[in-house]
Amino acid sequence: MCSTSTPTPVNQLPAVEITVYPYECDAFGHVNEAAYLQLFERSRWDALARGPGQDLFARHGVWPAVRRAVVDYHRPASPGDVLRVDVEVKQVGRTSLTLRQRAVRLADDGLVAELEIVFVMIDRAGKPTPMPEEVARVFGAPRPTRPGETVRSDLGDITLAVDARGDGPTLLLVHGFPLDRTLWAHQVATLAGWRRIAPDLRGAGASDAPDAGYSMEVYADDLARLLDRLRVERAVVAGLSMGGYVAFEFWRRHRARVMGLVLADTRAEADTPEARRGRDELIKVAQTHGAAAVADRMVPKLLGRSTRRAQPHLVEEVHAMVARAPVPGLVGALGAMRDRPDSTPQLAEIDVPTLVIVGEEDELTPPPLARTLAAGIPGAAVTTIAGAGHLAPLEAPTAVSRVIAEFLEAIPRP
Ligand code: MLT
Repeated sequence: MCSTSTPTPVNQLPAVEITVYPYECDAFGHVNEAAYLQLFERSRWDALARGPGQDLFARHGVWPAVRRAVVDYHRPASPGDVLRVDVEVKQVGRTSLTLRQRAVRLADDGLVAELEIVFVMIDRAGKPTPMPEEVARVFGAPRPTRPGETVRSDLGDITLAVDARGDGPTLLLVHGFPLDRTLWAHQVATLAGWRRIAPDLRGAGASDAPDAGYSMEVYADDLARLLDRLRVERAVVAGLSMGGYVAFEFWRRHRARVMGLVLADTRAEADTPEARRGRDELIKVAQTHGAAAVADRMVPKLLGRSTRRAQPHLVEEVHAMVARAPVPGLVGALGAMRDRPDSTPQLAEIDVPTLVIVGEEDELTPPPLARTLAAGIPGAAVTTIAGAGHLAPLEAPTAVSRVIAEFLEAIPRP
């Protein structure tokens, strides 16, 4: 592989471009699995060479020992392909560092492979040692998204934080409760060929969180105004759980703007009287004990049992996501969900391509409910995501992105 640099720093490490050579490929002419690890390693050293220097670790007497490396393979790469590899810092601990590297083929902007890799700094005796200050500085603070993706969109009375990426017809990704736009991070990163727009609803994530004025109508109208602002006429609207309730409201109020629907881990029915009482109780918890107490209650129900067992880092990430949510936004969303109308009367009217997705282990909106939802919408398809709970796009990101990509491929383009 030969490499050249591109001026796209992520934290302080630049992206690098690497050309695939024939000897890295298998008998079918595709980069083989082992070569991917080398490719990612080469690009890390190249990035260091072009940034702080390849001797960054040696000059502090530490060595980054690999503890875990997981590669997701997305599409084959062949000799002559030029891959742009960038580095995102997922976590910097006292002694450990987690990086995510993404290899994208320049020719078609297609994601080829991703690596998540965990290092522990060790000293010359092989013992874990605190990260030297310069090393920590080079890798910077964890970043939820890549530079240039997050914009703040001023809609007049409210400013929303929005991740926007790619070109093509628009896919609007609406998060659930009590979450934020990073729920859709993998889909924003990977669904090439579409303009992916993932906002924080008002009161969530980094968007403004007024004290009052939350309802499904207001959320849906915010999205319509956001599309206006981004000069988007029509979009495929994907909503997870509460995002699905917003999608139904968007359909009621702005259906001419809907090219298709992705309804993930959601339901059409309104709250039962018991569920309404639960909303009021949780409002009190949020007001009295704050967002962390809401996280304590909600997180075990949000993630599937397989995820809780096999991906403990996700339990922590989702807990942190909920715990940093603004309390007025939590209270507002709970009231909006409690008072939302029943959307079942609209199901038979939906005449755009619709995909229903559900995590196999979703306890809040389980698979039978998803099948009933799909059966109510003419022509809707339903897909169950193995091993995932209520937050399928986070728990099984590759599977969900693949299913959505296949669905989008069949949507007639304007
Ligand atoms: C969500 O994930 O958005 C919530 O579980 C929805 C709800 O509580 O009804």
